Amino acid sequence: MNSNELPDFREMRALRDEFARFLLSYKFGSDEMLTKINILKEAFELTHDYSPIEHVSFRLKSADSIFEKARRRGIELSLVSIRKNILDIAGIRITCSFISDAYRLRDMLVRQEDVTVLETKDYIRNPKSNGYKSLHILLSVPVFTLDRVDQVPVELQIRTIAMDFWASLEHKIYYKYEGAVPERLIAELKDAADVADRLDRKMERLHEEVTDLQRTEKAHERRSNPQLSEELLEDFARAMRNPEPRP
Ligand code: GTP
Ligand code: MG
Repeated sequence: MNSNELPDFREMRALRDEFARFLLSYKFGSDEMLTKINILKEAFELTHDYSPIEHVSFRLKSADSIFEKARRRGIELSLVSIRKNILDIAGIRITCSFISDAYRLRDMLVRQEDVTVLETKDYIRNPKSNGYKSLHILLSVPVFTLDRVDQVPVELQIRTIAMDFWASLEHKIYYKYEGAVPERLIAELKDAADVADRLDRKMERLHEEVTDLQRTEKAHERRSNPQLSEELLEDFARAMRNPEPRP
């Protein structure tokens, strides 16, 4: 190997390492958000025997798609410029059972002190013309590393299972036809989006009905057996005041 080529090779390695470090900060940002989401999920399951979160997935944009997006949008190919202009390098998708859960989850996440909302696109209230529905929130979270704090942007997509089902099929069709989807399929997809929407609304109504029923049953149980919970509470308070000595 010609010794003149060595610096180029070293430079390439340095660039590759720099890019890996760049991507790592997005992974750390996602880790922070994923922890928050997981805490909410577990806290919900513990308190309500139910979680608004069905499924969580996470992806980092590949180097190829970052460069392709930068080229497409006329963004300068430098890390500083990419950091400033491409804000969906880290993406988290949450699927919920019900539409109301999507908003409830959004509220619980964005009211956390260290979460900053940069942008919201509510495609549930305002669906795209093809029928696409989802709640997009672009937010940033602080990441504390060895010598500094970075504010890392993370794109959050929250949708119902039905919306997710539709979006994944639409995505496959869109790619298969490389964007030029035949009119007939576009119309069928729009129709499928309406069916998915009706299903979402019906499921939400049924869910509300069942929750109301459970609430009434619990209240009835408490009324018909009031001393039980009081007795239990008293026992608990007594045990807390006078813990049994360890054997
Ligand atoms: P890009 O980030 O370049 O896609 O443009 P944007 O920021 O204007 O898009 P937007 O925030 O509206 O959507 C970003 C992401 O939402 C996409 O990468 C997809 O994951 C999803 N999305 C948006 N529109 C559609 C759609 O019509 N169909 C499907 N399947 N997914 C969509
Ligand atoms: Mg985007």
